Amino acid sequence: MPKPTKMIIDTDPGVDDAMAILYAAHDTSIELLGLTTVFGNVPVEKATRNALRLCDLADLEIPVAEGAAKPSVFAPLDPAEAARIHGAEGFGPVPPETPQRTPTEEDAADFMASMARRYPGEVTLCAIGPITNVAEALRRHADFVDNIAKIIFMGGAAYVPGNVTPYAEANTYQDPHALAEVLASGVPTLMVGLDVTMQTTGSRDDFAELARRHPDHGGFLERASDAYIGIYEARGLTGCGLHDPAAVIACVKPDLFEITQEPLSVVLDGEQVGRTLPGHGSEAQICRGVDAPKLKKRFFSMFG
Ligand code: BDR
Ligand code: CA
Repeated sequence: MPKPTKMIIDTDPGVDDAMAILYAAHDTSIELLGLTTVFGNVPVEKATRNALRLCDLADLEIPVAEGAAKPSVFAPLDPAEAARIHGAEGFGPVPPETPQRTPTEEDAADFMASMARRYPGEVTLCAIGPITNVAEALRRHADFVDNIAKIIFMGGAAYVPGNVTPYAEANTYQDPHALAEVLASGVPTLMVGLDVTMQTTGSRDDFAELARRHPDHGGFLERASDAYIGIYEARGLTGCGLHDPAAVIACVKPDLFEITQEPLSVVLDGEQVGRTLPGHGSEAQICRGVDAPKLKKRFFSMFG
């Protein structure tokens, strides 16, 4: 059996973040080194609480390191914006709970750099929220750029419209400056954007079936995703985009995606702020297509 991929998930849980993290807890091809948290779907204190709660739920004995409370340059958005999508506490209608676990002393950027230093060339960083912590790790730790193996981020919309503006996807919209730094860093980077994540949806029936098979984790995801799926249904879709799970799966099963190597940049101001622009900038990998049935099958069958 090949060695599992050492991975850090940088996250703002978040309904689909919860899907991604619980998935990762079941996927034996992933060795989860820790979670790092960032503002985004909820303020960072709630993101940390929610990440710890997911560790409680999945019996994940891993460090959780809190990160940035605000974007690199911009002022944070009003939390009420994201609350309309993920609920005020992050897991839709599921009420908040005080976790049993506690976060690390070390913050997110330092934790990323220490892990990359401990396992040079081996750690995949999967960023599924605004990419602020990753840019901070690059700024703070000169060795991080060489030690980290790969950055895979959920964000952007290369050849399709955005989801917060006609141009921009939510994660890149919130901190485009951080993404610009990551793209310019020279670290091999793979973008898993709306181009592929909107092709892979999970319906109410899918989550009900998951809940039947795995009452703990599936049941939690079914409850958490109730209103989230409703938002997609109101737009005429049959289910929610599996955004963050797609990024985690791309880390270990890139062959499910059609990937191109292209210059990539991000718009930092004006009407198109947060837009990811292929054709300009540093070389990056972009997921252009996905075998959606296979990705969906892998996600839903991983829970046993
Ligand atoms: C991304 O934005 C957040 O709302 C989700 O958790 C996901 O990371 C989708 O655009
Ligand atoms: Ca997210």
